[in-house]
Order: sequence, then C-alpha cells, then structure tokens
Amino acid sequence: MKSVFFSRFFILLPWVLIVIIMIDIDSKRAIRAPTAGRTVRAQRSPRSGSPGAGGAQNQSSLPIIYAITPTYSRPVQKAELTRLAHAFRQVPRLHWIVVEDSTSRTDLVTRFLARCGVPYTHLHVFTPRRFKRAGMPRATEQRNAALAWLRQHRGRRDSGVVFFADDDNTYSLELFAEMRSTRGVSIWPVGFVGGRSYERPLVSGGKVVGWYTGWRPDRTFATDMAGFAVNLQVILANPRALFKRRGSQPGMQESDFLKQITKVSELEPKANNCTRVLVWHTRTEKPHLANEPKLKKDTVDIEV
Ligand code: UGA
Ligand code: MN
Repeated sequence: MKSVFFSRFFILLPWVLIVIIMIDIDSKRAIRAPTAGRTVRAQRSPRSGSPGAGGAQNQSSLPIIYAITPTYSRPVQKAELTRLAHAFRQVPRLHWIVVEDSTSRTDLVTRFLARCGVPYTHLHVFTPRRFKRAGMPRATEQRNAALAWLRQHRGRRDSGVVFFADDDNTYSLELFAEMRSTRGVSIWPVGFVGGRSYERPLVSGGKVVGWYTGWRPDRTFATDMAGFAVNLQVILANPRALFKRRGSQPGMQESDFLKQITKVSELEPKANNCTRVLVWHTRTEKPHLANEPKLKKDTVDIEV
C-alpha cells in the first residue's frame, strides 16, 4: 500500500512542479509586460500666441518632459488628476504617462484623459494584493510599467527628461523649467517631507555634499520621489534599473532606484543650488462620506 502511494507520489511530483513553475513564469510576465498603452499626441496646429513661452517653433527643440503618474481609484481621484492637468497643460512639451493601479483602464480615467488637454499615454497594471498593505512601498509596479513603456517606445535619438509626479503633490510651473536641462540626474528640495517643512540636498561648490532631512539621514539619496528627474538617455542606458519590491522598505524606493543609475557626486542641483522649494508633498484629506450608505441614493448616476 505504502509503496503504491510513494510510486504515485513520485510520478505526480514532477508534473506538479512543472505546473507551479509555469504559473510563476506567467505571473512574472504579466507584471513585466503591461498591456499596450493608449497614446495621444499634442495637436499639430500651433497654439495661438503664448508670449514669453518661446513660440511653437522654438519649443519643438525642447526635450520632452515625461511625467509619470501612478494613480488608483478612490473618491478624490478625479479631483487630484484635475489639479495636475491644470499645471501640466501649461508646461510646454510635457508628455503625461498615467499608470492606473487597476486590472484594466477605467472609464473614469479614460474619459478624463481624453478631455484633459495634455498629450498622454494611458497604461495600467494592478498591484498584487499581497503588496497592498500598510508599510509596503506604493506604486512600484506602476512606475516600472512606465519605464518599460519608455524603453520600448523611445530610442537613442529622443531627447527627454523623466520625472515621477505622484497624483497628490503640488507642482509649481518653475519646477518644469528647472528640470528641463537635466543631463544626467538632477535634484532639488521638496516641501513637507521627512517630518519637516522641507527636505533638501546640501550643496557646496555646485555638488551635493549631504542632506538636510528629518528622517533616515543615512539614506544614500535622502530625497522624495518628487525631488529628482532623470535624463531619458540615462533610463535607456540602464535597462535593468527598476523600482524594487524585494528588500525595499517604504521611503527607500527613491534611494534604491537612484543607486542603480548615478552617484551622489554626479547629481545636478537645481532650484538655485537647492535653496528653493518648487514642489510640495501635499496629501489630500479623505472626504467624509459616512452619510452616503445611510441616505437614499440620487436618481441619476453622476461621476465624481
Ligand atoms: C510617499 C512618496 O512620496 C511616494 O512617491 C512613494 O510611492 C510612497 O511614499 C511609498 O510609500 O511608496 P505617499 O504620499 O505616502 O508618498 O504615497 P501616495 O501619494 O499615497 O502614493 C504614491 C503614488 O502612488 C500616488 O500617485 C498614488 O496615486 C499611487 N498609488 C498609491 C497607487 O497607484 N496605488 C496605491 O495602492 C496607492
Ligand atoms: Mn502622496
């Protein structure tokens, strides 16, 4: 009896292992290859006179700023994206890569982007449930999907600057003018992070020599996601540089990523040698919706 059991067990074992390996390869592939994005380019017709902005012809020689925004469904999502679009619409040559944390492109974001007036690419990739816990880094898969899209759709001849623009921050227009000249990796202060009113790189002789921060000053790069930009060619020249889940703690994603592509001594300080705050790590309060389930629902279905 025992030997029959063992012989069946050993016959079945390799098959079970093959199935497990296939499932594992398949799920990894799904994470690495997000579904093809939808891209909408800028209108070809030149915009009517924008004094001081340099004119449409001069603008076409500017490197494109690729703003990567991970976003997820929640009551304030459309309001956040609306605020961002108001800023981004005023930035010449900005391409918005919006990556939804969802199993497919939602109708809300699809409709929003179609009307937002900013050239965009719309991607999606769902964060596996096991990573959706407090204390886990956020938007890792979404930022990596955007990097994969850039590596697939842009090449050696394309000039650009890549910036990670979370959907709840506040961006001044000056920030984009500063980051536009990024040759390798540029860096600047960010308001309301590290438990202080701002965090900033300390600069001496045009080089970053340390960090003014309230949290983990031992980080190699003590900066927030909103505190740096990377030349597109650096992203393309380092095809393995990605945001990591394994071994990464919350707040360490930025430093772990930057370590793969640059050195502190090579950073290009912006915003007047890192003495001006041009971006704020604002966080939106959750709206109070406790009365919704208690009261009668509206007779029409309205998107919020
Ligand atoms: C801080 C940093 O500023 C983020 O860049 C970093 O991703 C995050 O910590 C982290 O813990 O990893 P914080 O304000 O705490 O930011 O994070 P959120 O603003 O809630 O999320 C960052 C971005 O990821 C946002 O654009 C948000 O829409 C998106 N997100 C968040 C998702 O796509 N899925 C989620 O489940 C949560
Ligand atoms: Mn945030």
